[in-house]
Amino acid sequence: MNTGSRRIDEPGLRTTIALALPEEEREGLPELFAEAGFGAIVGRGAADLAAMLSIGAHVGLAIIDAGERPGETIALVREARAGLGRALPVLYVASGGALEELTEGLEDSDELLLRPVNAETLRWRLEAMTIRAQVGDGAAGETVFASGNVQADWLSSPPILSVFNPKGGVGKTTIATNLAAVLQLRREREVLLVDADTVTGHVSLSLGMKMGRSLADQLADEEAGDVHRTLSDLAAQHASGIRVVALTNSPLDLGNLDPERVTESIMEARHGVGTIIVDLHPSYSEVNLGVFAISDRILVPVTPDLPAIRAAVQLKEVMIELGMGERLGLVVNRANSGVSVADIELTTGLKAIGEIRSAGMNFVWASNVGRTVVEKFPKHKVVEDFEHLADKLLATPMPAGAPSSDRDVRSIFRSLLGRSLPAQA
Ligand SMILES: Nc1ncnc2c1ncn2[C@@H]1O[C@H](COP(=O)(O)OP(=O)(O)O)[C@@H](O)[C@H]1O
Ligand SMILES: [Mg+2]
Repeated sequence: MNTGSRRIDEPGLRTTIALALPEEEREGLPELFAEAGFGAIVGRGAADLAAMLSIGAHVGLAIIDAGERPGETIALVREARAGLGRALPVLYVASGGALEELTEGLEDSDELLLRPVNAETLRWRLEAMTIRAQVGDGAAGETVFASGNVQADWLSSPPILSVFNPKGGVGKTTIATNLAAVLQLRREREVLLVDADTVTGHVSLSLGMKMGRSLADQLADEEAGDVHRTLSDLAAQHASGIRVVALTNSPLDLGNLDPERVTESIMEARHGVGTIIVDLHPSYSEVNLGVFAISDRILVPVTPDLPAIRAAVQLKEVMIELGMGERLGLVVNRANSGVSVADIELTTGLKAIGEIRSAGMNFVWASNVGRTVVEKFPKHKVVEDFEHLADKLLATPMPAGAPSSDRDVRSIFRSLLGRSLPAQA
């Protein structure tokens, strides 16, 4: 490859730009950059930067949404830069309100661009920054995206699967933990299991683990000036390899959690894990609404009994009202107990994506020794049921529509909280 002479219109010879802006704002930009000879790799915000840098392209410049918490954005950028071993100039795209906090954290090589973004302006700012940083030749020999406008599809990021039914005792925790174990042990997925129900049943308890630091503890410490830690940082590892973290250690704290901080933390945790599973408390709390909003799929365990089925019917109505009906997936639990799956599908109007048979006392025996059934009774038929569920989930594309940025989540919150929801079950 000729690296001696560099021409602006020759693709692949200029640097690759990490473009981490909300989808609507980055529209058309990769094409524009390609015209100018830059490669582009896209992401949604600062939280994506580390992953974007790690996929192999020689990224010489980043354009990053400053977000509504510029301090956090800057911290994320600092983290991503830390392992890089070379300079990475960043152009922050910001709204007026973020300016003060942002300017304090800028490095010498960094620059600011105020919203609204004009594509041409952006392009010329890039040219100027490129010249200044002398990143123009971007190590053409090792550039992965030689055509200059490849958008990597790594953004089909680790799915967030939540497990919910507003009725207790239907198997949410059982399904969350055993699905997690199958994904971790038999499908090579790094799983982060989030216990969002320390009220009706502890994940850590059923996995025989000590309760570690919870997200609530961490958020309180951060308020007091402690460094930021992600859910993965807080998580403790179970013998199966699953990483487990709780939103709160005390049931009393659940109501005090800021739903936005919860959803931000979960979205942030997608980096570095293969799948996130959230075991939810049976209620329509604000935290739960937030988790629904960021979930790619909401698994709804239903046992073949009237209260559980009724609760699922009500859930379906609520979710359709909220525009999230597509994300629901019925998991028929204790499936071999008399009522047919087809009947449950018909009554709930939900399509079954899995069936888990009744396994007698095996779940209890396993959890008595702090293990999942997958580990303790690996040959039990019920483990195959979990494998089928896992495979179905991995094979089926996630329904579109789960939000991808802080901003999307905020707008969803605004619309969710304006509605009346069923009383807590
Ligand atoms: N398929 C099953 N076979 C046998 N026992 C089950 C099954 N699913 C759940 N259980 C048992 O039912 C009880 C309630 O399940 P759990 O997962 O805690 O429900 P939830 O989290 O919805 O409150 C637990 O004791 C669990 O072991
Ligand atoms: Mg539970």
